[in-house]
Amino acid sequence: MATAASTPHPEVGTPIVAGLPMPEFRRIGVEPISGACGCEISGVDLREPLDPETLAEIMLAFQQFLVIVFRDQDLTPEQHKAFSRYFGELTELPQAPTYGGHSDMQEVRREAWEPVNVVPSFEHFHTDSPFLPQPPKCIVMRAIDCPQWGGDTAFSNAYLVYEHLSPGLKAVVDDLQIIYSGRDIWAKNEALAPEKRLRLREGHSFTEEQLQSIHPAVRVHPETGRRAIFANTAYFKGFVGWTEAESRALLDYLQSLAQQLHYHCRVKWRQNTLIVWDNRFTLHRGVHDFKHERRHLIRTTVIGEKPLGVADWHD
Ligand code: CO
Repeated sequence: MATAASTPHPEVGTPIVAGLPMPEFRRIGVEPISGACGCEISGVDLREPLDPETLAEIMLAFQQFLVIVFRDQDLTPEQHKAFSRYFGELTELPQAPTYGGHSDMQEVRREAWEPVNVVPSFEHFHTDSPFLPQPPKCIVMRAIDCPQWGGDTAFSNAYLVYEHLSPGLKAVVDDLQIIYSGRDIWAKNEALAPEKRLRLREGHSFTEEQLQSIHPAVRVHPETGRRAIFANTAYFKGFVGWTEAESRALLDYLQSLAQQLHYHCRVKWRQNTLIVWDNRFTLHRGVHDFKHERRHLIRTTVIGEKPLGVADWHD
């Protein structure tokens, strides 16, 4: 009788998850969420300092899956920050409302009586704060309150979006640069009807200079050299050297690819669920399909490297 091993299909190799073979994990439990990205990690208590082997496996899972989910992590803000610092230095954000008295924590909050979030750019997949000179490496987010039904966060793997492009389109996007600007966030918000306004931070100390940047449309991982699309509608002003109409047309096409389900995972929050997501190589969006329930997520933001483009990468 034919077994899988003897089936004459020599092209069938190792199973692939998130675009790569599954690494071996000895210290932590790792359960992939979808074939595209995301995993749940078990066997770790994030209130405690992590031993080097456990930490190395968490970082390996983060590198491969881009979205790592821990359940039942009842952390104080200080414990939350201490765990976040394993990923790098924490940064403030100019626009996001802070959590409690912590200028280096932010919150995402919708009260039970509030209507659906209607800000269109965040109803799309996006990366956070790409207008900064060094946009966030990752976000560490924990649920304080979440709806019984709905309110998930969805993620899209931007490596896979890039890797599935044709050689012809890759050659075009490899050389492109994007202008992102956050300078008009406050004016745009003021122009909305009061009930449609974003809850923004009261004040900040960022300069005008820091609120606009030019970044590569294809971003390269600083250690592995893996390439991903780094283009999204939030704060997008255009491709350098392209007209607005040309820029929109290509951006819309790239965005439409990121919507495809085979690039996604989706995480259901429970109280004390903690997610770390790579903000460089994924896009994300909250799913506002809940009503009459409170959703309160608190987070830290870890500063990233200045984005590397294809031309900056040398083996
Ligand atoms: Co976001």
